[in-house]
Amino acid sequence: MSSTDDRKGLFLVIEGGDGSGKDTQLRLLSSYLREMGYDVLETSEPTDGPIGRKIRQKGLSEKERYSPLEMQLMFSVDRNHHLKSEVYPALKDGKIVISGRYTVSTLAYSYALGLDVELLESANSGYMKPDLTIYIDVDPDTAIKRIENRGGAREIYETYDMQRKVREGYRIFLSRFNHIVIDGSMEPGSVYKKIVEAVYPYLQNLNGA
Ligand SMILES: Nc1ncnc2c1ncn2[C@@H]1O[C@H](COP(=O)(O)OP(=O)(O)O)[C@@H](O)[C@H]1O
Ligand SMILES: [Mg+2]
Repeated sequence: MSSTDDRKGLFLVIEGGDGSGKDTQLRLLSSYLREMGYDVLETSEPTDGPIGRKIRQKGLSEKERYSPLEMQLMFSVDRNHHLKSEVYPALKDGKIVISGRYTVSTLAYSYALGLDVELLESANSGYMKPDLTIYIDVDPDTAIKRIENRGGAREIYETYDMQRKVREGYRIFLSRFNHIVIDGSMEPGSVYKKIVEAVYPYLQNLNGA
């Protein structure tokens, strides 16, 4: 697969709208795999790198907002940094990399902000594809209820209308990736069980096992 022919690890991505349960499932899946003895890198986008921090600080708040195209470019630069500094080295070491959000997020969210689909596809076509993208699907009502319960500051995407468009974006762009759709309205333990079932076959090919 693309620029890491020498990769031995497994690259998993957890995707979904805001409040879908990505962070919850990332933690559960990582601890499960660690208990099984695998070396796991838990990571996410936007990253904690210089551009990732800028995206979090400014791009996701109403104040000092970037244009959708600027956001798209910042996500691309951040992804490049993410791959080179963390993902490639970990895969080369045979680790399981689990990233909360990756390319499909950029596509779905930029789509929701009104960017052109063809432009989005060409800007995002060069990145290494994950072995499996796990999409946690929740309807916008459920997502907004969870975000409200969670409390804290709201990001610009966290409205009903944006979540509806983001979900539409995911439906369009997921088909470009090897993915599974998990019903995220179930309780966390059931979502987790489905994810483990989906990941299990990929472990058989890991480390020559
Ligand atoms: N399956 C679930 N059912 C109900 N609530 C959930 C579920 N998964 C996560 N939550 C809750 O919803 C909120 C958002 O979850 P989180 O894992 O942070 O989602 P994300 O990272 O996708 O935004 C948290 O308060 C979390 O405890
Ligand atoms: Mg989260």
